Amino acid sequence: MKTLIKNGTVVTASDTYKADVLIEDEKITMIGLNLPSDGAEIIDAAGLLLMPGGIDPHTHLDMPFGGTITADDFFTGQRAAAFGGTTCHIDFALQQKGATLKDGVEMWQKKAEGKTITDYGFHIAITDPTEASINEIATLKDIGVASLKVFQAYKGAFMVDDTALYKAMEVARDSDIMLMTHSENGDAIALLTEKLVSEGKLEPKYHLDAHPREIEGEATARAIALSAVTGAKLYVVHMSCSDSIEQMALGRSKGYNVMGETCTQYMFKFEDDMRVPGYEGAKWACGPPVRTPKDAEYIWEALRNTTLQCVATDHCSFHYDGGVNGKIAGKELGREGWHKIPNGIPGIEDRMPVMYHNGVNSGRISLNRFVAITSTNVAKSMGMYPQKGTIAVGSDADIVLWDPEKEHTISAKTHHMAVDYNAYEGMQIKGLPVRTIIRGTTVVNNGELCVEKGFGKYVRRANPVIV
Ligand code: URP
Ligand code: ZN
Ligand code: ZN
Repeated sequence: MKTLIKNGTVVTASDTYKADVLIEDEKITMIGLNLPSDGAEIIDAAGLLLMPGGIDPHTHLDMPFGGTITADDFFTGQRAAAFGGTTCHIDFALQQKGATLKDGVEMWQKKAEGKTITDYGFHIAITDPTEASINEIATLKDIGVASLKVFQAYKGAFMVDDTALYKAMEVARDSDIMLMTHSENGDAIALLTEKLVSEGKLEPKYHLDAHPREIEGEATARAIALSAVTGAKLYVVHMSCSDSIEQMALGRSKGYNVMGETCTQYMFKFEDDMRVPGYEGAKWACGPPVRTPKDAEYIWEALRNTTLQCVATDHCSFHYDGGVNGKIAGKELGREGWHKIPNGIPGIEDRMPVMYHNGVNSGRISLNRFVAITSTNVAKSMGMYPQKGTIAVGSDADIVLWDPEKEHTISAKTHHMAVDYNAYEGMQIKGLPVRTIIRGTTVVNNGELCVEKGFGKYVRRANPVIV
């Protein structure tokens, strides 16, 4: 199968230029001016940008959490991703207590089986750090897993202590695995939660008081220090505020092997959105929590000046009004107390358009930086480059045809996620994907899904690098 995309403008993390792109089977085989059609199917991309498909480094599909399960499974989540210009994502498989890391990955493989639309990989989160589990980190590369998450928060559930974190870092260093941390001080959160709840402070806004910014800064500094001492590569996930990001800037200025990710919602959802009267604030309960508009500006600057390297969604969707009309339970579980709200915000479909419109159109970041933070840097740091994350000869033909003039208003009424609300409701976007191509096959074209469930493939990953 041959496809020739003609007359478009190729955009990578480093260059923007006019060229035709030839795809043969699943790969890009030629890039140049006026390439001959030679029997290929022609796609006319005049007026369109050709960008590497988005790669979301942080998602939770079909995940049991907070007494329920996420609204999006691998089909609805990946379908939404493809509509939004994301061609690959890395989901978090969770180790179950008493089971191995590989069992966790197998469990998540089964969830994905027969449902996939986009390509995908798995991180594994270690939650039962026995000596055997820590030693098992050395074998993760055998199953194509190049990254391990350690929770410094969620005491009593996923959290592991500093001894386990340190030991995991040593094995990760020796086996070239990227160690990822959820950096908040879980002990402090547990104590604050107990106090707030015992005082009868139960509305959603008290979620903020239990997750102060200082403890995100502290846990980030601790993870960075341990990475510096052990030499492990460290990727701090979902960084929300200046307190943690300034620690990242300091660590990077010292030449440590550290990098950071933020999430789209931290630039658009704020503490005031959680403080609205009534229960609406529950929609924005996530960990770390949403912060302030000042933090959002700090994040934009950190993305621009390369303190932060990746933008994820941390897509973790729970219905606002779950448990009715056939919907699984969701945020309503916290009506009796904010500490029972399942944590998470949806956004797998919106990351690319929202970041493009508010980043590129507003002049906050260049077009090339947009590609870097939504695709190329993810591929590099997660061990998928150059198979994924760029438009180059030999790379997978994961290409998004992007219309910089197309306009759309985001709404839960029209989104493709299963969840019943949208974090960017009413946002007017200019610049949208019009065709999403994965390994040479058109997956979405002009609002139509063009592949069957099961199309997406598992991506084996190796050699993650700090960017
Ligand atoms: O609130 C969040 N972030 N939910 C997902 C779990 C996690 O910590 O990433
Ligand atoms: Zn986390
Ligand atoms: Zn997450």
